[in-house]
Amino acid sequence: MRLLITGGAGFIGANFVHQTVEEHPDVSVTVLDALTYAGDEASLAPVADRISFARGDVADAELVDRLVADADAVVHFAAESHNDNSLSNPWPFVRTNVVGTYTLLEAVRRHEVRYHHISTDEVYGDLELDDPAKFTPTTPYNPSSPYSSTKAASDLLVRAWVRSFGVQATISNCSNNYGPYQHVEKFIPRQITNVVDGVRPKLYGTGENVRDWIHVRDHNSAVWAILERGRIGETYLIGADGEENNKTVVELILELMGLEPDAYDLVSDRPGHDMRYAIDSTKLRDELGWSPRYTTFRDGLAATVDWYRANEAWWRPQKDATEARYAQLGR
Ligand code: NAD
Ligand code: TYD
Repeated sequence: MRLLITGGAGFIGANFVHQTVEEHPDVSVTVLDALTYAGDEASLAPVADRISFARGDVADAELVDRLVADADAVVHFAAESHNDNSLSNPWPFVRTNVVGTYTLLEAVRRHEVRYHHISTDEVYGDLELDDPAKFTPTTPYNPSSPYSSTKAASDLLVRAWVRSFGVQATISNCSNNYGPYQHVEKFIPRQITNVVDGVRPKLYGTGENVRDWIHVRDHNSAVWAILERGRIGETYLIGADGEENNKTVVELILELMGLEPDAYDLVSDRPGHDMRYAIDSTKLRDELGWSPRYTTFRDGLAATVDWYRANEAWWRPQKDATEARYAQLGR
Protein backbone atom coordinates (compact mmCIF):
# COMPACT_ATOMS: atom_id res chain seq x y z
CA MET A 1 0.00 0.00 0.00
CA ARG A 2 1.14 3.54 -0.81
CA LEU A 3 0.13 5.75 2.11
CA LEU A 4 0.15 9.55 2.05
CA ILE A 5 0.40 10.94 5.59
CA THR A 6 -0.26 14.66 5.97
CA GLY A 7 1.17 16.43 9.03
CA GLY A 8 3.69 13.62 9.47
CA ALA A 9 6.29 15.97 10.97
CA GLY A 10 3.95 16.97 13.81
CA PHE A 11 3.42 15.21 17.13
CA ILE A 12 0.87 12.51 16.36
CA GLY A 13 1.76 12.24 12.66
CA ALA A 14 5.45 11.62 13.38
CA ASN A 15 4.59 8.92 15.90
CA PHE A 16 2.22 7.42 13.29
CA VAL A 17 5.01 7.38 10.71
CA HIS A 18 7.37 5.67 13.19
CA GLN A 19 4.72 3.06 14.07
CA THR A 20 3.88 2.46 10.42
CA VAL A 21 7.51 1.88 9.46
CA GLU A 22 7.97 -0.47 12.45
CA GLU A 23 4.73 -2.42 12.26
CA HIS A 24 3.74 -2.25 8.57
CA PRO A 25 7.05 -2.56 6.70
CA ASP A 26 5.23 -3.38 3.45
CA VAL A 27 3.64 0.10 3.37
CA SER A 28 5.33 2.79 1.32
CA VAL A 29 5.07 6.09 3.22
CA THR A 30 5.02 9.61 1.80
CA VAL A 31 4.73 12.53 4.24
CA LEU A 32 3.26 15.87 3.18
CA ASP A 33 4.01 18.58 5.74
CA ALA A 34 4.41 22.36 5.51
CA LEU A 35 6.90 22.39 8.43
CA THR A 36 5.11 25.20 10.24
CA TYR A 37 6.38 26.19 13.70
CA ALA A 38 4.75 22.91 14.87
CA GLY A 39 6.43 20.61 12.36
CA ASP A 40 9.97 19.33 12.76
CA GLU A 41 11.79 17.11 10.28
CA ALA A 42 14.01 16.00 13.17
CA SER A 43 11.02 14.03 14.48
CA LEU A 44 11.33 11.86 11.36
CA ALA A 45 15.14 11.52 11.45
CA PRO A 46 15.07 7.93 12.84
CA VAL A 47 13.02 6.77 9.82
CA ALA A 48 14.17 9.28 7.19
CA ASP A 49 15.72 6.64 4.91
CA ARG A 50 12.50 4.60 4.90
CA ILE A 51 10.04 7.31 3.78
CA SER A 52 9.58 10.07 1.18
CA PHE A 53 9.09 13.60 2.41
CA ALA A 54 7.33 16.43 0.53
CA ARG A 55 7.39 19.86 2.06
CA GLY A 56 4.19 21.65 1.14
CA ASP A 57 0.78 22.93 2.02
CA VAL A 58 -2.38 20.79 2.22
CA ALA A 59 -4.25 23.75 0.70
CA ASP A 60 -2.00 23.68 -2.41
CA ALA A 61 -4.40 21.96 -4.83
CA GLU A 62 -1.83 21.18 -7.53
CA LEU A 63 0.68 19.58 -5.15
CA VAL A 64 -2.03 17.68 -3.29
CA ASP A 65 -3.50 16.38 -6.54
CA ARG A 66 -0.10 15.08 -7.65
CA LEU A 67 0.61 13.31 -4.34
CA VAL A 68 -2.89 11.85 -3.98
CA ALA A 69 -2.73 10.50 -7.56
CA ASP A 70 0.22 8.35 -6.44
CA ALA A 71 -1.41 7.07 -3.22
CA ASP A 72 -3.74 4.20 -2.33
CA ALA A 73 -4.81 5.84 0.94
CA VAL A 74 -4.46 9.16 2.77
CA VAL A 75 -4.35 9.71 6.53
CA HIS A 76 -4.89 13.41 7.20
CA PHE A 77 -3.23 14.65 10.41
CA ALA A 78 -2.09 18.09 9.23
CA ALA A 79 -3.79 20.89 11.14
CA GLU A 80 -3.30 23.97 13.19
CA SER A 81 -3.78 22.25 16.53
CA HIS A 82 -3.41 24.60 19.49
CA ASN A 83 -6.41 26.27 21.12
CA ASP A 84 -4.45 29.18 22.61
CA ASN A 85 -3.04 30.07 19.18
CA SER A 86 -6.52 29.89 17.65
CA LEU A 87 -7.70 32.53 20.11
CA SER A 88 -4.83 34.87 19.15
CA ASN A 89 -5.10 34.37 15.38
CA PRO A 90 -7.89 32.18 13.96
CA TRP A 91 -7.16 32.61 10.22
CA PRO A 92 -4.48 29.88 9.84
CA PHE A 93 -6.96 27.49 11.49
CA VAL A 94 -9.67 28.27 8.93
CA ARG A 95 -7.22 27.99 6.07
CA THR A 96 -5.39 24.79 7.03
CA ASN A 97 -8.16 22.92 8.83
CA VAL A 98 -11.08 23.80 6.56
CA VAL A 99 -9.61 24.74 3.17
CA GLY A 100 -6.84 22.13 3.55
CA THR A 101 -9.36 19.36 4.23
CA TYR A 102 -11.53 20.54 1.32
CA THR A 103 -8.47 20.40 -0.96
CA LEU A 104 -7.66 16.83 0.09
CA LEU A 105 -11.28 15.71 -0.26
CA GLU A 106 -11.47 16.99 -3.82
CA ALA A 107 -8.26 15.14 -4.67
CA VAL A 108 -9.33 11.81 -3.11
CA ARG A 109 -12.67 12.19 -4.86
CA ARG A 110 -11.00 12.69 -8.27
CA HIS A 111 -8.58 9.80 -7.83
CA GLU A 112 -10.92 7.48 -5.85
CA VAL A 113 -8.43 7.14 -3.01
CA ARG A 114 -9.32 5.86 0.50
CA TYR A 115 -9.24 8.70 3.06
CA HIS A 116 -9.02 8.70 6.84
CA HIS A 117 -9.72 11.95 8.65
CA ILE A 118 -8.08 12.64 12.01
CA SER A 119 -10.16 14.77 14.31
CA THR A 120 -10.70 15.61 17.93
CA ASP A 121 -13.30 15.08 20.67
CA GLU A 122 -13.33 18.89 21.06
CA VAL A 123 -15.90 19.08 18.24
CA TYR A 124 -18.48 17.98 20.84
CA GLY A 125 -17.89 20.95 23.13
CA ASP A 126 -17.49 20.15 26.82
CA LEU A 127 -19.14 18.29 29.69
CA GLU A 128 -19.81 19.36 33.28
CA LEU A 129 -17.49 17.88 35.92
CA ASP A 130 -20.34 15.96 37.58
CA ASP A 131 -22.02 14.80 34.35
CA PRO A 132 -21.98 10.99 34.13
CA ALA A 133 -22.20 11.27 30.31
CA LYS A 134 -19.32 10.80 27.89
CA PHE A 135 -19.10 11.77 24.22
CA THR A 136 -20.49 9.17 21.82
CA PRO A 137 -20.66 9.16 18.00
CA THR A 138 -24.20 10.62 18.24
CA THR A 139 -23.36 13.52 20.57
CA PRO A 140 -24.31 16.78 18.78
CA TYR A 141 -21.45 18.97 17.58
CA ASN A 142 -21.03 22.04 19.80
CA PRO A 143 -17.45 23.36 19.41
CA SER A 144 -16.22 26.21 21.62
CA SER A 145 -13.02 27.61 20.09
CA PRO A 146 -11.76 28.61 16.65
CA TYR A 147 -9.63 25.43 16.76
CA SER A 148 -12.49 23.07 17.58
CA SER A 149 -14.95 24.82 15.27
CA THR A 150 -12.60 24.49 12.29
CA LYS A 151 -12.06 20.81 13.11
CA ALA A 152 -15.85 20.39 13.33
CA ALA A 153 -16.23 22.10 9.95
CA SER A 154 -13.66 19.74 8.45
CA ASP A 155 -15.47 16.67 9.83
CA LEU A 156 -18.74 17.89 8.31
CA LEU A 157 -17.06 18.35 4.92
CA VAL A 158 -15.89 14.72 5.10
CA ARG A 159 -19.40 13.48 5.92
CA ALA A 160 -20.86 15.47 3.02
CA TRP A 161 -18.22 14.21 0.57
CA VAL A 162 -19.02 10.62 1.60
CA ARG A 163 -22.75 11.08 1.15
CA SER A 164 -22.77 13.35 -1.91
CA PHE A 165 -19.81 12.00 -3.86
CA GLY A 166 -19.26 8.49 -2.49
CA VAL A 167 -15.80 9.29 -1.17
CA GLN A 168 -14.38 6.26 0.70
CA ALA A 169 -13.71 7.96 4.02
CA THR A 170 -13.70 7.28 7.75
CA ILE A 171 -13.36 9.77 10.62
CA SER A 172 -11.87 9.40 14.09
CA ASN A 173 -12.32 11.82 16.99
CA CYS A 174 -9.70 11.25 19.66
CA SER A 175 -9.15 12.66 23.14
CA ASN A 176 -5.98 14.45 24.38
CA ASN A 177 -2.77 12.67 23.40
CA TYR A 178 0.53 12.58 25.26
CA GLY A 179 3.91 11.02 24.52
CA PRO A 180 7.19 11.79 22.72
CA TYR A 181 7.61 14.54 20.09
CA GLN A 182 4.74 16.72 21.39
CA HIS A 183 5.35 20.45 20.92
CA VAL A 184 6.31 22.32 24.12
CA GLU A 185 3.30 24.63 23.75
CA LYS A 186 0.99 21.78 24.83
CA PHE A 187 0.12 21.22 28.50
CA ILE A 188 2.21 18.19 29.50
CA PRO A 189 5.44 19.00 27.60
CA ARG A 190 5.19 22.65 28.67
CA GLN A 191 5.13 21.69 32.34
CA ILE A 192 7.87 19.04 32.05
CA THR A 193 10.21 21.42 30.23
CA ASN A 194 9.37 24.25 32.64
CA VAL A 195 10.45 22.04 35.53
CA VAL A 196 13.67 21.16 33.67
CA ASP A 197 14.25 24.93 33.36
CA GLY A 198 13.54 25.56 37.05
CA VAL A 199 10.25 27.35 36.22
CA ARG A 200 7.08 26.53 38.16
CA PRO A 201 4.32 24.75 36.16
CA LYS A 202 1.37 26.96 35.23
CA LEU A 203 -2.22 25.85 35.68
CA TYR A 204 -5.00 27.77 33.95
CA GLY A 205 -7.86 28.91 36.17
CA THR A 206 -8.48 26.58 39.09
CA GLY A 207 -6.80 23.55 37.51
CA GLU A 208 -10.04 21.57 37.80
CA ASN A 209 -10.55 21.09 34.04
CA VAL A 210 -10.52 17.43 33.02
CA ARG A 211 -8.93 15.90 29.94
CA ASP A 212 -9.21 12.24 28.86
CA TRP A 213 -5.57 11.30 28.27
CA ILE A 214 -4.48 8.66 25.77
CA HIS A 215 -0.95 7.66 24.83
CA VAL A 216 -0.18 8.67 21.25
CA ARG A 217 0.71 5.05 20.35
CA ASP A 218 -2.77 3.91 21.39
CA HIS A 219 -4.33 6.66 19.25
CA ASN A 220 -2.28 5.48 16.31
CA SER A 221 -3.02 1.77 16.77
CA ALA A 222 -6.71 2.72 16.66
CA VAL A 223 -6.17 4.69 13.44
CA TRP A 224 -4.58 1.61 11.88
CA ALA A 225 -7.53 -0.55 13.02
CA ILE A 226 -9.95 1.90 11.37
CA LEU A 227 -7.87 2.11 8.20
CA GLU A 228 -7.84 -1.68 7.89
CA ARG A 229 -11.26 -2.66 9.22
CA GLY A 230 -13.37 0.50 9.67
CA ARG A 231 -16.67 0.81 7.84
CA ILE A 232 -16.74 3.51 5.16
CA GLY A 233 -18.68 6.61 6.18
CA GLU A 234 -18.41 5.82 9.90
CA THR A 235 -17.09 7.93 12.76
CA TYR A 236 -15.11 6.19 15.53
CA LEU A 237 -14.33 7.83 18.88
CA ILE A 238 -10.88 6.98 20.23
CA GLY A 239 -10.24 7.12 23.97
CA ALA A 240 -8.61 5.07 26.71
CA ASP A 241 -10.66 5.99 29.82
CA GLY A 242 -7.90 8.32 31.01
CA GLU A 243 -9.80 11.17 32.69
CA GLU A 244 -7.59 13.28 34.99
CA ASN A 245 -7.90 16.87 36.09
CA ASN A 246 -5.07 19.24 35.21
CA LYS A 247 -4.06 19.73 38.84
CA THR A 248 -3.56 15.99 39.30
CA VAL A 249 -1.44 15.83 36.14
CA VAL A 250 0.81 18.68 37.30
CA GLU A 251 1.16 17.15 40.77
CA LEU A 252 2.18 13.85 39.19
CA ILE A 253 4.75 15.55 36.93
CA LEU A 254 6.21 17.38 39.93
CA GLU A 255 6.37 14.18 41.96
CA LEU A 256 7.95 12.20 39.08
CA MET A 257 10.55 14.98 38.71
CA GLY A 258 11.41 14.98 42.43
CA LEU A 259 9.67 18.23 43.48
CA GLU A 260 6.95 19.03 45.99
CA PRO A 261 3.49 18.41 44.46
CA ASP A 262 2.30 21.96 45.21
CA ALA A 263 5.25 23.71 43.46
CA TYR A 264 3.02 25.16 40.70
CA ASP A 265 1.26 28.50 40.06
CA LEU A 266 -2.33 29.24 39.09
CA VAL A 267 -2.44 31.68 36.15
CA SER A 268 -5.26 33.48 34.33
CA ASP A 269 -7.72 31.18 32.59
CA ARG A 270 -8.04 30.56 28.83
CA PRO A 271 -11.15 32.35 27.47
CA GLY A 272 -13.95 29.86 26.78
CA HIS A 273 -11.89 27.08 28.44
CA ASP A 274 -13.70 23.74 28.01
CA MET A 275 -14.33 22.12 31.40
CA ARG A 276 -14.25 18.42 30.68
CA TYR A 277 -13.82 15.96 27.82
CA ALA A 278 -14.63 12.24 28.12
CA ILE A 279 -14.81 9.60 25.40
CA ASP A 280 -16.98 6.51 25.16
CA SER A 281 -14.98 4.29 22.79
CA THR A 282 -17.35 1.28 22.93
CA LYS A 283 -17.99 1.30 19.17
CA LEU A 284 -14.28 1.15 18.33
CA ARG A 285 -13.64 -1.60 20.88
CA ASP A 286 -16.70 -3.75 20.02
CA GLU A 287 -16.66 -3.35 16.27
CA LEU A 288 -12.95 -3.39 15.53
CA GLY A 289 -11.59 -5.27 18.56
CA TRP A 290 -9.25 -2.40 19.48
CA SER A 291 -7.99 -1.86 23.01
CA PRO A 292 -5.34 0.49 24.43
CA ARG A 293 -1.98 -0.85 25.67
CA TYR A 294 -0.68 2.12 27.68
CA THR A 295 -3.36 2.04 30.35
CA THR A 296 -1.36 3.15 33.41
CA PHE A 297 -1.18 6.92 33.04
CA ARG A 298 1.52 7.23 35.69
CA ASP A 299 3.84 4.87 33.76
CA GLY A 300 3.16 6.57 30.43
CA LEU A 301 3.79 9.97 32.00
CA ALA A 302 7.02 8.77 33.65
CA ALA A 303 8.26 7.51 30.26
CA THR A 304 7.29 10.85 28.70
CA VAL A 305 9.21 12.78 31.39
CA ASP A 306 12.23 10.55 30.67
CA TRP A 307 11.86 11.20 26.93
CA TYR A 308 11.89 15.01 27.37
CA ARG A 309 14.85 14.76 29.75
CA ALA A 310 16.79 12.66 27.20
CA ASN A 311 15.80 14.74 24.16
CA GLU A 312 16.43 18.32 25.16
CA ALA A 313 18.15 18.94 21.81
CA TRP A 314 14.79 18.22 20.12
CA TRP A 315 12.62 20.62 22.16
CA ARG A 316 15.07 23.32 23.26
CA PRO A 317 14.96 25.34 19.97
CA GLN A 318 11.18 25.86 20.42
CA LYS A 319 11.09 26.67 24.11
CA ASP A 320 11.94 30.39 24.25
CA ALA A 321 9.65 31.42 21.39
CA THR A 322 6.81 29.38 22.90
CA GLU A 323 7.19 30.98 26.33
CA ALA A 324 7.41 34.43 24.72
CA ARG A 325 3.98 33.78 23.13
CA TYR A 326 2.57 32.74 26.50
CA ALA A 327 4.10 35.78 28.21
CA GLN A 328 2.14 38.02 25.82
CA LEU A 329 -1.06 36.23 26.89
CA GLY A 330 -0.16 36.55 30.57
CA ARG A 331 -0.19 32.77 30.91
P1 NAD B 1 0.84 19.30 15.62
O1 NAD B 1 0.52 20.74 15.71
O2 NAD B 1 1.88 18.72 16.52
O3 NAD B 1 1.27 18.94 14.13
C1 NAD B 1 0.62 19.47 13.02
C2 NAD B 1 1.48 19.19 11.79
O4 NAD B 1 0.77 19.67 10.63
C3 NAD B 1 2.82 19.91 11.81
O5 NAD B 1 3.85 19.05 11.40
C4 NAD B 1 2.64 21.07 10.82
O6 NAD B 1 3.84 21.45 10.19
C5 NAD B 1 1.65 20.45 9.84
N1 NAD B 1 0.87 21.46 9.13
C6 NAD B 1 0.23 22.54 9.66
N2 NAD B 1 -0.37 23.26 8.70
C7 NAD B 1 -0.10 22.61 7.53
C8 NAD B 1 -0.45 22.86 6.16
N3 NAD B 1 -1.20 23.93 5.82
N4 NAD B 1 -0.02 22.00 5.24
C9 NAD B 1 0.72 20.91 5.57
N5 NAD B 1 1.10 20.64 6.83
C10 NAD B 1 0.68 21.48 7.80
O7 NAD B 1 -0.56 18.55 15.80
P2 NAD B 1 -0.88 17.14 16.48
O8 NAD B 1 -1.09 17.34 17.93
O9 NAD B 1 0.09 16.12 16.01
O10 NAD B 1 -2.31 16.86 15.85
C11 NAD B 1 -2.43 16.13 14.63
C12 NAD B 1 -3.89 15.93 14.32
O11 NAD B 1 -4.54 15.25 15.37
C13 NAD B 1 -4.67 17.25 14.14
O12 NAD B 1 -5.58 17.07 13.08
C14 NAD B 1 -5.40 17.42 15.46
O13 NAD B 1 -6.59 18.16 15.28
C15 NAD B 1 -5.67 15.97 15.82
N6 NAD B 1 -5.82 15.68 17.26
C16 NAD B 1 -4.86 16.06 18.14
C17 NAD B 1 -4.97 15.72 19.49
C18 NAD B 1 -3.89 16.07 20.49
O14 NAD B 1 -4.06 15.79 21.68
N7 NAD B 1 -2.77 16.65 20.10
C19 NAD B 1 -6.09 15.00 19.92
C20 NAD B 1 -7.08 14.62 18.98
C21 NAD B 1 -6.91 14.96 17.65
P1 TYD C 1 -3.73 21.72 25.82
O1 TYD C 1 -2.53 20.82 25.85
O2 TYD C 1 -3.60 23.07 25.23
O3 TYD C 1 -4.87 20.87 25.08
P2 TYD C 1 -6.45 21.19 24.84
O4 TYD C 1 -6.69 22.63 25.01
O5 TYD C 1 -6.60 20.78 23.40
O6 TYD C 1 -7.18 20.31 25.79
O7 TYD C 1 -4.28 21.89 27.30
C1 TYD C 1 -4.71 20.78 28.08
C2 TYD C 1 -5.34 21.33 29.34
O8 TYD C 1 -4.33 21.98 30.14
C3 TYD C 1 -6.40 22.40 29.10
O9 TYD C 1 -7.42 22.26 30.10
C4 TYD C 1 -5.66 23.72 29.29
C5 TYD C 1 -4.65 23.36 30.36
N1 TYD C 1 -3.36 24.09 30.35
C6 TYD C 1 -2.87 24.61 31.56
O10 TYD C 1 -3.51 24.52 32.63
N2 TYD C 1 -1.65 25.22 31.54
C7 TYD C 1 -0.91 25.35 30.41
O11 TYD C 1 0.21 25.91 30.45
C8 TYD C 1 -1.44 24.81 29.17
C9 TYD C 1 -0.66 24.93 27.89
C10 TYD C 1 -2.67 24.18 29.20
